[in-house]
Amino acid sequence: MKKAAVNGIEIAYRDEGDGNPIVFLHAFPLNQTMWDGQVKAFCENHRVITFDWRGFGKSTLGTESTTMNLFADDLACLLDALGVDLATICGLSMGGYAALAFYRKYADRVSALILADTRANRDTEEGKRARYEMAELARKSGPSALVEIMIPRLIGATTLQNNPRVAKRVQNMIESNSAEGIAQALLGMAERDDSTDLLAQINCPTLVIAGSEDKLTPPSEAEKMSEAICNANFEVISGAGHLPNIEQPGDFNRVITQFLNEL
Ligand code: MLT
Repeated sequence: MKKAAVNGIEIAYRDEGDGNPIVFLHAFPLNQTMWDGQVKAFCENHRVITFDWRGFGKSTLGTESTTMNLFADDLACLLDALGVDLATICGLSMGGYAALAFYRKYADRVSALILADTRANRDTEEGKRARYEMAELARKSGPSALVEIMIPRLIGATTLQNNPRVAKRVQNMIESNSAEGIAQALLGMAERDDSTDLLAQINCPTLVIAGSEDKLTPPSEAEKMSEAICNANFEVISGAGHLPNIEQPGDFNRVITQFLNEL
């Protein structure tokens, strides 16, 4: 893993392979290793970039409050540092919120967009309250306190039953993060802009993906989001919850490969 000093923080990243760049943006409260299966699959034909958001994995948190717009700026600065002008951006869940924030600010740097298990609308008041409570819990009791809450939300019933190693891997990722990084991201998600209006302005090729068993962002909502984007493709990954790239990597990679081949 490499480190780059950008935007006042140190970002831990991977940059592998050659070809058109594709950047994978990780979910909450995980880290860039959630994309291991995608790095391996796509670096044969693409330049694949993954990194830890500020306050996650091996990236530092910095002094500014985390927001999705700050995440977008961090990404822009990292791409500058790597000499990448234009890339396919694939964001999953919180990564999708940041991908939309990035598109709002830096649309001319996005050649194609992949929005997985994410949503454009902002949090409800009730949703925000739940985030503030979780931030408090993380600060008081540490990342491990989130494991029991998050695992059944993130992982689909089929995977939980058939592949317990996925839960262990997700637990390790959650516990790799700092409590303050997690808390800041929760506050940043709670305060994020509504991106519903942005959807009609997206004019690059777009793929929307949803796990069939995703309870956090159900496929019906993802489908509605795809319908609001001009000519977006929509794919459901069966037997997967909120993390189809880990739960059903073969199918997840297949729909992305198909999409990229048609660009
Ligand atoms: C994620 O997977 O990034 C989070 O579940 C997103 C969220 O809590 O809204």
